Amino acid sequence: MNNIHRIGIMTSGGDCPGLNAVIRAVAKAALGSHHLEVMGIEDGFLGLIQNRMRMLDNESVSNILTLGGTILGTNNKVSPRNYAVKINDRIENRDVTDRCLEHIAHNHLDALVVIGGDGSMAIASDFIRLGINCIGVPKTIDNDLYGTDVTFGFATAVSVATDALDRVHTTAASHHRVMIVEVMGRNSGWIALHSGIASGSDVILIPEIPFDVKIICDYVTYRARHGKRFSIICVSEGAIPVGGKQVVDRVDPTSPDPIRLGGIGQVLAEQVEGATGIETRTVKLGHVQRGGSPVPADRVLATEFGYKAIEILCAGERSRLVVMKGRTVTHIPLEEAEGKQRLVPVDHPLILAGRNVGTCFGD
Ligand code: F6P
Repeated sequence: MNNIHRIGIMTSGGDCPGLNAVIRAVAKAALGSHHLEVMGIEDGFLGLIQNRMRMLDNESVSNILTLGGTILGTNNKVSPRNYAVKINDRIENRDVTDRCLEHIAHNHLDALVVIGGDGSMAIASDFIRLGINCIGVPKTIDNDLYGTDVTFGFATAVSVATDALDRVHTTAASHHRVMIVEVMGRNSGWIALHSGIASGSDVILIPEIPFDVKIICDYVTYRARHGKRFSIICVSEGAIPVGGKQVVDRVDPTSPDPIRLGGIGQVLAEQVEGATGIETRTVKLGHVQRGGSPVPADRVLATEFGYKAIEILCAGERSRLVVMKGRTVTHIPLEEAEGKQRLVPVDHPLILAGRNVGTCFGD
């Protein structure tokens, strides 16, 4: 007998296109075929700590499939194990996991559907060890969640980045410039790799392949001498020069993952312009990649993932992560993904294909 009557659903971590499509699929499948009650937890684990949640009905999840962001709100700075509380004008970090457990019990939640990335799955794993049934749904534009071949949000980010690269291509050609587009991705280069290949970028720099500035400058100069007086460089925010370090934009001490990368594009632009004498400009795409309506592929994936989460929950599965393996949506133990990132293998077929169409990876 499967004792699931009411579930809680949350979106946790950085937002990404397709979150609402998952919320819709989870809620509609739960309310419709399985007659479950669904509570939407606001702002991820912060809402669980603060007991902010509301009932969702069909009306509240109607007309949100194409909507960017998340109707539930999200938060990428809170961990129940290390929550900042104000005590007599001082901030102290406390473990408020028990408070979350009380709120789960008080609201009669029989399971949680956690839509999140690696940080959120680590928190969910903690709750699993305390006896809470959590079903994870993998989201992130970075595509770096361990255990799944793809996360929803990634296709939209690649589409936005590719569009930007295509646009700078024409202006770079007109002005005979080097244009650098810096894309997101944290420590993984999936967005840079896919958008760089899709746009025919001349140079693609990813964190997994440390780059040598001299090799990049020699390549740009070679192109200029052979009639290509412009070059397009797609650089991942986490790209690392050989023997150097990632460029950090800011450190957020309130976040469990405090490092925010960013700025490598500008650093590189100064080096390339200095060494080649070719005017070099940079565009940092930033959160544009995370906003707006999901592309059709993400709407489809989000719907498949959300539906699967409810199907496995109602089939009696516990503590699973919905994943895509090949072309099949399936599931693995959620705790398997804890503390791991899925980086780009340096012998990935797309890197080999890129090298064979003349792309420079800076190595
Ligand atoms: O994980 C998604 C992501 O957009 C990364 O690509 C990026 O490094 C990070 O989040 C930025 O986080 P924030 O929104 O806190 O600046």
